[in-house]
Amino acid sequence: MRFQLTTLFAVASATVAVASPTWAALAAWAKGPGGQPAPLHTSTRPSISCQPHHPSQPPPSPPPRNRVCYVESHNDGVTDDSTYILNALHSCNNGGHVVFAEGLKYTIGTALDLTFLEHIDIDIQSYIQFTNDTTYWQANSFKFIFQNVTSFFKLGGNDVNIYGGGTIDGNGQVWYDLYAANIYTLRPVLIGIDGLHNSILSDLVLRYSPEYYHFVANATNVIFDNINIAGHSTSINVAKNTDGWDTYRSSGLVIQNSVINNGDDCVSFKPNSTDILVQNLWCNGSHGISVGSLGQYKGEYDIVQNVYVFNVSMHNTTDGGRIKVWPNTPSAVSGDLQGGGGSGMVKNITYDTMLIDNVDYAIEVDQCYGQSNLTLCLEFPSPLTITDVLFKNFNGKTSKKYQPEIGTFACSSATVCNNIVASGINVVSPNGTNLAYCLNVPQADLDVTCTTEYLGFN
Ligand SMILES: *[C@@H]1O[C@H](CO)[C@@H](O)[C@H](O)[C@H]1NC(C)=O
Ligand SMILES: *[C@@H]1O[C@H](CO)[C@@H](O)[C@H](O)[C@H]1NC(C)=O
Ligand SMILES: *[C@@H]1O[C@H](CO)[C@@H](O)[C@H](O)[C@H]1NC(C)=O
Ligand SMILES: *[C@@H]1O[C@H](CO)[C@@H](O)[C@H](O)[C@H]1NC(C)=O
Ligand SMILES: *[C@@H]1O[C@H](CO)[C@@H](O)[C@H](O)[C@H]1NC(C)=O
Ligand SMILES: *[C@@H]1O[C@H](CO)[C@@H](O)[C@H](O)[C@H]1NC(C)=O
Ligand SMILES: *[C@@H]1O[C@H](CO)[C@@H](O)[C@H](O)[C@H]1NC(C)=O
Ligand SMILES: *[C@@H]1O[C@H](CO)[C@@H](O)[C@H](O)[C@H]1NC(C)=O
Ligand SMILES: *[C@@H]1O[C@H](CO)[C@@H](O)[C@H](O)[C@H]1NC(C)=O
Ligand SMILES: *[C@@H]1O[C@H](CO)[C@@H](O)[C@H](O)[C@H]1NC(C)=O
Repeated sequence: MRFQLTTLFAVASATVAVASPTWAALAAWAKGPGGQPAPLHTSTRPSISCQPHHPSQPPPSPPPRNRVCYVESHNDGVTDDSTYILNALHSCNNGGHVVFAEGLKYTIGTALDLTFLEHIDIDIQSYIQFTNDTTYWQANSFKFIFQNVTSFFKLGGNDVNIYGGGTIDGNGQVWYDLYAANIYTLRPVLIGIDGLHNSILSDLVLRYSPEYYHFVANATNVIFDNINIAGHSTSINVAKNTDGWDTYRSSGLVIQNSVINNGDDCVSFKPNSTDILVQNLWCNGSHGISVGSLGQYKGEYDIVQNVYVFNVSMHNTTDGGRIKVWPNTPSAVSGDLQGGGGSGMVKNITYDTMLIDNVDYAIEVDQCYGQSNLTLCLEFPSPLTITDVLFKNFNGKTSKKYQPEIGTFACSSATVCNNIVASGINVVSPNGTNLAYCLNVPQADLDVTCTTEYLGFN
């Protein structure tokens, strides 16, 4: 019989049975500050509600779990704890509660395929850090194909609840520096999701992701609640592409009650993101909440539909509400971000109630993403339609960057854009103007003062 590294507590009855021995690390940890044992404990699963807007499906609320597995740790900040983690997750899969115990430090140095999870609570009370071995990670991280996304681990399955108040740290500095030296460095995203259903991630602190904080692919009915995101570079090399969430081939997602301090999109809806609710976010230093970029890959059909974004406070960002679509001609944002020529549709998107504080463009609709030559963009209009988009109740002040303009509504042709409406836009530039660049979008639909003076795109 294999040595069982995970402690199993059977809590089916009132008695708690210890089914396997404790080990050195847990014993050492148990002598808490002052030599007193700090008791192992489980966190109570938070009860999540989606307010004030509700998603089409109610939040999952599975029955309580029937056993507990504590994850062992080398607790030295260096040695890989992946085997311990996998053992605990396997032992407690299908009905258990896994605890990353308070006071312990866990290190992950192995790419973990966690797509087998079912009916499990993962209680992260402590601190988890990924190793800084960039050579290992670039060779072994999971590949998501889309936009060269890779991840430290791949989370998937059904009925997975992750909470506990702990911290997950991507050790990003080494990646920020490496990316500055070579833009083709494959930086892992911190939380890589592929095929996750009926699950909730809540009460987590995420720090120093090498790239995006979440890439959410092939997910349905997943809620993110009370996630605190931050991470900056301490060198001259900026932490780039640190999007809060990127959603892809997913539907029925809720992202709410979270604080995001980052350096790229706060939330971004990539191809085939439908039925998504975003509410009560505070974003600082980002690129705003974006639909797209879409149309990057020729021959693909991208859909973003039925998205509601409510009550976002946007500080120090390039954009508030944004829609970015590649033109129908090869274009480049940078060497590692190129595309154009894809088709698809953006439909039924609402941005409702946004506070604008030092934002370059409160609203940016841009069908020429990655193409600085506007003439060229207009020669090859995008085959990706944008219909039924509403921006309403925007308040505040933009930055000076595009003063006197506060936004831009630029469609590559009138035939591909329909019913783009802005109402209740009480946003001014620092000198009090509320102009916006309008191209192929009628002034009558926009509660801004249209001008034809093009000042550029973000
Ligand atoms: C990587 O982490 C190891 C172990 O913590 C440390 O000794 C080393 O200095 C780190 N290397 C870099 C480049 O940060
Ligand atoms: C999502 O699911 C599709 C279809 O099963 C699969 O081909 C793809 O690899 C999955 N992951 C991503 C990131 O698209
Ligand atoms: C998006 O959905 C459409 C319609 O189902 C499909 O044709 C297209 O291939 C999907 N695109 C991606 C990137 O999954
Ligand atoms: C808007 O979000 C903030 C948090 O950023 C929250 O304090 C406030 O209650 C929310 N307002 C509404 C109407 O839900
Ligand atoms: C917002 O981000 C800026 C850097 O972009 C930072 O200086 C500031 O401290 C952040 N604000 C808060 C409250 O974290
Ligand atoms: C538009 O999207 C919202 C969710 O954001 C949904 O409630 C509504 O039914 C959709 N409208 C149509 C016409 O599909
Ligand atoms: C915006 O950034 C400036 C400096 O970069 C900072 O002083 C300010 O606190 C930030 N705003 C917020 C709300 O954090
Ligand atoms: C990433 O994708 C781009 C296309 O956008 C491609 O040119 C590049 O070679 C890919 N690989 C890396 C490592 O960036
Ligand atoms: C922009 O594209 C047009 C049309 O192809 C071309 O005539 C013009 O030279 C380009 N301008 C620049 C600055 O490249
Ligand atoms: C606002 O600033 C812009 C340039 O920054 C200037 O062109 C414009 O005249 C100013 N408008 C007012 C009303 O001061």
